[in-house]
Amino acid sequence: MAFPKKELFLVATSLVVIQIVMAGDPDILTDFIAPTNTPPNSPPLDGNFFTFTGLRSLVSDPVPPAFKVVKATMEQFPALNGQSVSYAVLIYPGGSVNPVHTHPRSAELLFLAQGSLTVGFVDTTNTLYTQTLEQGDLFVFPKGLVHFQYNADVKSPALAISAFGSASPGTVSLPNTLFNTTIDDSVLALSFKTDVATIQKLKAGLKG
Ligand SMILES: *[C@@H]1O[C@H](CO)[C@@H](O)[C@H](O)[C@H]1NC(C)=O
Repeated sequence: MAFPKKELFLVATSLVVIQIVMAGDPDILTDFIAPTNTPPNSPPLDGNFFTFTGLRSLVSDPVPPAFKVVKATMEQFPALNGQSVSYAVLIYPGGSVNPVHTHPRSAELLFLAQGSLTVGFVDTTNTLYTQTLEQGDLFVFPKGLVHFQYNADVKSPALAISAFGSASPGTVSLPNTLFNTTIDDSVLALSFKTDVATIQKLKAGLKG
């Protein structure tokens, strides 16, 4: 028995509404998620739990020799659990790249605080959207899409701050996922329409 058209429409629209409501992390039923398994005589929860000091070093540290990201997600900052937000601070010495990657659970809103940066993402129709950002610009990378950032200015570093709509956006690095796991060489050779020697060469470059 088929649904009448009107009911199908209602089912379809309510599914859309559910999708919209669930666009961030799941809602929690408390103001925040306090740490569990604390020792019996530990002090009561205070402002320290809601404070993350792991980015202070950025103020004083010299520019690193290679691209560097400092994350403040719920892994580093447990108070973010359930709050649907997180940050990453990205430092690009001249000529460095943040290799192609995706964030499976969140869009990324990047603010370029210093320098210039070439950014881009590829959508599901394989269209590349790219831009060269100036200091003060914002750029949004839609959720789940493959993207990169590149500091083409070899003489000056760049510094960006990225906000995420998830406490745990996750990162899938394409070079690592494809060529630094144990996916069979012949599967990769067939996938990339090349030979096993070429795949092994790519793999050798990523060994830690
Ligand atoms: C490749 O994987 C190894 C082991 O997990 C890791 O130590 C290394 O950093 C990875 N290489 C890169 C380029 O991330």
